[in-house]
Amino acid sequence: MQPVIMAGGSGSRLWPLSRQLNPKQFLALVNPDTTLLQDTLARLDGLEAAAPVLICNEEHRFLAAEQLRQAEIQPDGILLEPTGRNTAPAIALAALRARRVGEDPLLLVLAADHTMADVAAFQASVKAAMPQAEAGKLVTFGVVPHCPETGYGYIKRGKPLSDQVHQVDRFVEKPDLTTAQDYLDSGDYLWNSGMFLFRASRYLEELGNHRPGILAACEKAMAGCSEDMDFVRLDKAAFRSCPSDSVDYAVMENTESAAVVSLDAGWSDIGSWSALWEVGGKDENDNSHYGDVIAQDCQCTLVRAEHRLVATVGVRDLIVVETKDAVLVAHKDSVQDVKKVVERIRDDG
Ligand code: GDD
Ligand code: MG
Repeated sequence: MQPVIMAGGSGSRLWPLSRQLNPKQFLALVNPDTTLLQDTLARLDGLEAAAPVLICNEEHRFLAAEQLRQAEIQPDGILLEPTGRNTAPAIALAALRARRVGEDPLLLVLAADHTMADVAAFQASVKAAMPQAEAGKLVTFGVVPHCPETGYGYIKRGKPLSDQVHQVDRFVEKPDLTTAQDYLDSGDYLWNSGMFLFRASRYLEELGNHRPGILAACEKAMAGCSEDMDFVRLDKAAFRSCPSDSVDYAVMENTESAAVVSLDAGWSDIGSWSALWEVGGKDENDNSHYGDVIAQDCQCTLVRAEHRLVATVGVRDLIVVETKDAVLVAHKDSVQDVKKVVERIRDDG
């Protein structure tokens, strides 16, 4: 089994800490001394997995390489995308590389920017998924939901295949709130975690069936690649011509072979500041603080001070993030809109 770590996201909802040149997967957000990427790699300890393949944007190559080195992990290549084409092509590149020496490993596809409180439960789900993946299923990890989150895809469980694994009845990517609430109430749905286990060849086969243009462009990009040290540089023109699509839309929603293994491991994709508040440690008033912070009569706040003392008085449900060149103050219910700030900065700049 070979881990495939997708690290190409921009994490704009975690601005001002997450920046274009230093996005969230490369930040120490949950643990003080390790980044989300390093936490993802540490979660593999004990699974007897092969060396991982990492896929990220070219501009983050030194960050990625340095963080792997610090974690004492020798990768089986860091694939460098000249531009993001979403997750379906990223996984195709890893699958093509995994097959280059005639091997056909199981690929454990993970996002570099997730967190999980219970590593043993995660590893148990991986092991439960393996027999089905070996038999040709494309297994997705489905998180037991606890609220009607609209930022996730939902998976309707079908008939059972084994202890923790079910067939997939259908995928629904990011439903509206009313639909998400119905799904939660029904008890039949799981959140799509965006993590998968399948054979490299099965993924490529299904991608070829449903998105032949993506497969062809990725084959060309890999055929023309060059390697220097751990870096694998793609044929840029070929990859730029690749259609952009997510693995969910391109493959998982279309394949007849989708299966889902349930995952109850305190998972979060830390999609926003309030999600980070939820998973982080809190004081007796539910405040989550990092750095030099004084909170007087505050409740349910997240305050992060990177460079100077930050004091909050008499507020609740507030997010304050102080960095060297920017400060964010947001209501906890509005944190999804932080990415609109980032869009405005880009437009104005
Ligand atoms: N290498 C690479 N290249 N990685 C990428 C790219 C890309 O072009 N685009 C995204 N990624 C990585 C991101 O870094 C992230 O770790 C992961 O792939 C998923 O991408 P997101 O952009 O964060 O997807 P999403 O959050 O909108 O939705 C997906 O994840 C949800 C769970 O977090 C979907 O799979 C949803 O159904 C799912 O619920
Ligand atoms: Mg995400």
